[in-house]
Amino acid sequence: MRTRQMEECSKPEISIVVPTYNEAQVIGTFLDKVREELEEYTKCYEVIVVDDDSPDGTWRIVEEESKGDPRIRLVRRLGERGLATAVIKGIQEARSDLVIVMDADLQHPPEVVPKILGKAKEGYDIVVASRYARGGGVEGWSKARLAISRISSIVSKILVREARKTSDPMSGFFLVRKSIVRVEHLRPRGYKILLEILAKSPGARVADVPYTFRKRAAGDSKLGLRVMVDFILHLISLSRLARFAIVGGIGSILNLGVMYILLPVAGVDASSIAGIEAGILWNFILHEEWTFKSRFAGSVIRRLIGYHLSSLAGITSTYLVMRLLYTLAGVNPVLGQAIGIIVGFIANYTLSSGVVWRGAKAKTAP
Ligand code: GDD
Ligand code: MN
Repeated sequence: MRTRQMEECSKPEISIVVPTYNEAQVIGTFLDKVREELEEYTKCYEVIVVDDDSPDGTWRIVEEESKGDPRIRLVRRLGERGLATAVIKGIQEARSDLVIVMDADLQHPPEVVPKILGKAKEGYDIVVASRYARGGGVEGWSKARLAISRISSIVSKILVREARKTSDPMSGFFLVRKSIVRVEHLRPRGYKILLEILAKSPGARVADVPYTFRKRAAGDSKLGLRVMVDFILHLISLSRLARFAIVGGIGSILNLGVMYILLPVAGVDASSIAGIEAGILWNFILHEEWTFKSRFAGSVIRRLIGYHLSSLAGITSTYLVMRLLYTLAGVNPVLGQAIGIIVGFIANYTLSSGVVWRGAKAKTAP
């Protein structure tokens, strides 16, 4: 019977990708439950477990299972660790166009899989199992963990436009159509591979399915401080606005520092202008090499002049706010300049993004 199934099933209709690290206690139950759910749907599927050579022997259990049922496939990675790269590896290995990614520890309930597949049938390219969609939730989380999760999800929606298509861009439980993800473009980092996939698949149709993130029955979470730091770095790499803000923040400190040093010798006006120009040159070099690196539009000199022109609003408001506060209210000029910088920032980003580095062409071929 089994071999007949295999002959009929040369190309699976569904691939489930399951990253594991030290899940020996639950992997058996997980595989049973997932098979139960899938069997209702089709006999023609594959479950790909990507294990990073777990010391507790998770891979050995999967290997045994795969001997009895060839639809269970083990990818055992030696000398490599990391959830995101494991997920990408699994997606690469998947032979079906519909790929579901989920955790092995049963915190992602297998009963949700048929609902996800239902949405995919309706034609969606990415289906997110969401804790924050109506009807979803989390079980037994501390207020602190809930807050961190909510905040990071809001921040990613502010910074990454494509994340706004789902209520849970941080979910680790989702379906993707392999044909719409350009796997080779994914830069895996930390835990949040869905965010990366969303950001790199601008045309994708996205739907949510609510689910409740269950308590961990056994074993430990691998989420730690490293993961949080990685997440922040990941967001910065995905968000032009975040890079712009970081460059501008340091540029502002430089501006004020130069002004502070020159003030006693050069006076209010000259030190203000010198500070502003130092900040502008710093910003220009960093935006050129980092913030807007993938864009180009004409020559460097043109962009340098363009950047000065587009910064005029910021330059003027910085100088004028400083001058007004100093002359009318006797505010310390360096403090006045700091307030002026804040006033000019928003106008500056709008003009830089919309005028100087607006070039839609990418430096490298898409
Ligand atoms: N191959 C591999 N390598 N798998 C890993 C690694 C690794 O380095 N680290 C963790 N995993 C596996 C775990 O075995 C588990 O199946 C899954 O990835 C999630 O890891 P957990 O440690 O259980 O994560 P969590 O419970 O904190 O969940 C968080 O991350 C999930 C990512 O899938 C939450 O943010 C969830 O919302 C999210 O779904
Ligand atoms: Mn977990």
